[in-house]
Amino acid sequence: MKVAILSGSVFGTAEEVARHAEKLLKAAGLEAWHNPRATLDELKAFGPEAFLAVTSTTGMGELPDNLQPLYYAIRDELPSQWRGLPGAVIGLGDASYGDTFCGGGEQLRELFAELGLREVLPMLRLDASETVTPESDAEPWLADLVTALKA
Ligand SMILES: Cc1cc2nc3c(=O)[nH]c(=O)nc-3n(C[C@H](O)[C@H](O)[C@H](O)COP(=O)(O)O)c2cc1C
Repeated sequence: MKVAILSGSVFGTAEEVARHAEKLLKAAGLEAWHNPRATLDELKAFGPEAFLAVTSTTGMGELPDNLQPLYYAIRDELPSQWRGLPGAVIGLGDASYGDTFCGGGEQLRELFAELGLREVLPMLRLDASETVTPESDAEPWLADLVTALKA
Protein backbone atom coordinates (compact mmCIF):
# COMPACT_ATOMS: atom_id res chain seq x y z
CA MET A 1 0.00 0.00 0.00
CA LYS A 2 1.28 3.47 -0.94
CA VAL A 3 1.16 5.85 2.01
CA ALA A 4 1.79 9.56 1.42
CA ILE A 5 3.23 11.33 4.46
CA LEU A 6 2.70 15.10 4.50
CA SER A 7 4.60 17.11 7.08
CA GLY A 8 4.53 20.66 8.40
CA SER A 9 7.28 21.85 10.70
CA VAL A 10 8.88 25.11 11.86
CA PHE A 11 11.78 23.88 13.98
CA GLY A 12 12.06 20.33 12.65
CA THR A 13 10.34 18.32 15.38
CA ALA A 14 7.32 17.31 13.29
CA GLU A 15 9.62 16.55 10.38
CA GLU A 16 11.63 14.19 12.57
CA VAL A 17 8.42 12.46 13.65
CA ALA A 18 7.37 12.18 9.99
CA ARG A 19 10.76 10.69 9.07
CA HIS A 20 10.48 8.21 11.90
CA ALA A 21 6.96 7.29 10.73
CA GLU A 22 8.27 6.77 7.20
CA LYS A 23 10.94 4.41 8.52
CA LEU A 24 8.47 2.40 10.64
CA LEU A 25 5.86 2.14 7.88
CA LYS A 26 8.51 0.96 5.43
CA ALA A 27 9.77 -1.59 7.96
CA ALA A 28 6.17 -2.86 8.17
CA GLY A 29 6.14 -3.41 4.41
CA LEU A 30 4.17 -0.32 3.37
CA GLU A 31 5.38 1.90 0.55
CA ALA A 32 5.74 5.16 2.48
CA TRP A 33 6.66 8.40 0.73
CA HIS A 34 7.60 11.58 2.59
CA ASN A 35 8.47 14.91 1.04
CA PRO A 36 8.20 17.97 3.30
CA ARG A 37 7.97 20.26 0.26
CA ALA A 38 5.76 18.12 -1.96
CA THR A 39 3.65 19.83 -4.61
CA LEU A 40 0.16 18.66 -5.47
CA ASP A 41 1.44 17.32 -8.81
CA GLU A 42 4.15 15.27 -7.07
CA LEU A 43 1.60 13.94 -4.62
CA LYS A 44 -0.77 12.93 -7.39
CA ALA A 45 2.10 11.31 -9.31
CA PHE A 46 2.91 9.13 -6.28
CA GLY A 47 -0.63 7.76 -6.46
CA PRO A 48 -1.41 7.56 -2.72
CA GLU A 49 -3.64 4.82 -1.35
CA ALA A 50 -3.52 6.22 2.20
CA PHE A 51 -2.51 9.50 3.88
CA LEU A 52 -0.64 10.40 7.05
CA ALA A 53 -0.21 14.05 8.01
CA VAL A 54 2.29 15.07 10.68
CA THR A 55 2.19 18.75 11.51
CA SER A 56 3.09 21.16 14.26
CA THR A 57 1.22 24.37 15.03
CA THR A 58 2.62 27.88 14.86
CA GLY A 59 1.40 31.46 15.30
CA MET A 60 -2.09 31.32 16.79
CA GLY A 61 -3.07 27.83 15.70
CA GLU A 62 -1.61 28.12 12.19
CA LEU A 63 0.05 25.64 9.87
CA PRO A 64 3.83 25.85 9.34
CA ASP A 65 4.91 27.72 6.19
CA ASN A 66 6.32 24.65 4.45
CA LEU A 67 2.93 22.90 4.44
CA GLN A 68 0.75 25.87 3.48
CA PRO A 69 1.27 25.78 -0.33
CA LEU A 70 0.29 22.10 -0.53
CA TYR A 71 -2.56 22.58 1.96
CA TYR A 72 -4.10 25.39 -0.11
CA ALA A 73 -3.49 23.58 -3.42
CA ILE A 74 -5.35 20.52 -2.12
CA ARG A 75 -8.12 22.64 -0.60
CA ASP A 76 -8.62 24.65 -3.81
CA GLU A 77 -8.90 21.54 -5.97
CA LEU A 78 -10.20 18.82 -3.63
CA PRO A 79 -9.13 15.99 -5.98
CA SER A 80 -11.94 13.45 -6.10
CA GLN A 81 -9.76 10.37 -6.73
CA TRP A 82 -8.78 10.09 -3.06
CA ARG A 83 -12.34 9.89 -1.72
CA GLY A 84 -12.79 6.95 0.65
CA LEU A 85 -9.06 6.37 1.24
CA PRO A 86 -7.77 5.91 4.80
CA GLY A 87 -6.12 8.85 6.52
CA ALA A 88 -4.79 9.83 9.94
CA VAL A 89 -3.13 12.85 11.54
CA ILE A 90 -0.41 13.43 14.11
CA GLY A 91 -0.61 16.93 15.57
CA LEU A 92 2.27 18.49 17.46
CA GLY A 93 1.59 21.41 19.72
CA ASP A 94 1.89 22.79 23.19
CA ALA A 95 -1.07 22.59 25.57
CA SER A 96 -0.07 25.90 27.14
CA TYR A 97 -1.44 27.58 23.99
CA GLY A 98 -4.93 26.62 25.20
CA ASP A 99 -7.63 26.79 22.53
CA THR A 100 -5.21 26.57 19.65
CA PHE A 101 -3.57 23.38 20.98
CA CYS A 102 -2.71 21.24 17.92
CA GLY A 103 -4.64 23.66 15.68
CA GLY A 104 -2.44 22.73 12.71
CA GLY A 105 -3.39 19.07 13.09
CA GLU A 106 -7.07 20.06 13.38
CA GLN A 107 -6.80 21.92 10.06
CA LEU A 108 -5.43 18.79 8.40
CA ARG A 109 -8.25 16.70 9.90
CA GLU A 110 -10.78 19.12 8.40
CA LEU A 111 -9.00 19.00 5.04
CA PHE A 112 -8.99 15.19 5.11
CA ALA A 113 -12.73 15.23 5.91
CA GLU A 114 -13.36 17.59 2.96
CA LEU A 115 -11.42 15.19 0.75
CA GLY A 116 -13.67 12.36 1.90
CA LEU A 117 -10.83 10.43 3.56
CA ARG A 118 -11.76 7.94 6.29
CA GLU A 119 -10.09 8.81 9.60
CA VAL A 120 -8.85 5.38 10.65
CA LEU A 121 -7.38 6.48 14.01
CA PRO A 122 -8.16 9.44 16.27
CA MET A 123 -5.56 12.21 15.91
CA LEU A 124 -2.44 11.69 18.03
CA ARG A 125 -1.64 14.89 19.94
CA LEU A 126 2.00 15.29 20.94
CA ASP A 127 2.32 17.97 23.62
CA ALA A 128 5.70 19.72 23.74
CA SER A 129 5.00 20.83 27.33
CA GLU A 130 4.88 17.18 28.39
CA THR A 131 7.38 15.27 26.29
CA VAL A 132 10.80 15.67 24.77
CA THR A 133 10.63 12.31 22.96
CA PRO A 134 7.83 12.74 20.39
CA GLU A 135 9.26 10.16 17.96
CA SER A 136 9.24 7.28 20.42
CA ASP A 137 5.94 8.52 21.92
CA ALA A 138 4.36 8.12 18.47
CA GLU A 139 5.44 4.48 18.08
CA PRO A 140 2.40 2.72 19.68
CA TRP A 141 0.03 4.92 17.63
CA LEU A 142 2.02 4.20 14.47
CA ALA A 143 1.81 0.47 15.19
CA ASP A 144 -1.98 0.87 15.44
CA LEU A 145 -1.94 2.78 12.15
CA VAL A 146 -0.07 -0.06 10.44
CA THR A 147 -2.66 -2.52 11.77
CA ALA A 148 -5.54 -0.32 10.56
CA LEU A 149 -3.98 0.11 7.09
CA LYS A 150 -3.35 -3.60 6.68
CA ALA A 151 -6.83 -4.59 7.84
C1 LIG B 1 5.80 30.97 17.81
C2 LIG B 1 5.16 29.68 18.22
C3 LIG B 1 3.79 29.58 18.17
C4 LIG B 1 3.17 28.37 18.55
N1 LIG B 1 1.79 28.29 18.52
C5 LIG B 1 1.19 27.15 18.92
C6 LIG B 1 -0.23 27.05 18.93
O1 LIG B 1 -0.95 27.98 18.57
N2 LIG B 1 -0.78 25.87 19.33
C7 LIG B 1 -0.03 24.80 19.74
O2 LIG B 1 -0.59 23.78 20.09
N3 LIG B 1 1.33 24.87 19.74
C8 LIG B 1 1.94 26.02 19.35
N4 LIG B 1 3.32 26.08 19.35
C9 LIG B 1 4.10 24.91 19.82
C10 LIG B 1 4.67 24.06 18.69
O3 LIG B 1 3.66 23.59 17.81
C11 LIG B 1 5.39 22.85 19.30
O4 LIG B 1 6.48 23.32 20.07
C12 LIG B 1 5.89 21.86 18.27
O5 LIG B 1 6.41 20.71 18.90
C13 LIG B 1 6.94 22.45 17.34
O6 LIG B 1 7.21 21.52 16.31
P1 LIG B 1 8.16 21.87 15.06
O7 LIG B 1 9.58 21.83 15.58
O8 LIG B 1 7.91 20.79 14.08
O9 LIG B 1 7.76 23.20 14.54
C14 LIG B 1 3.94 27.27 18.99
C15 LIG B 1 5.35 27.40 19.02
C16 LIG B 1 5.95 28.59 18.67
C17 LIG B 1 7.45 28.72 18.76
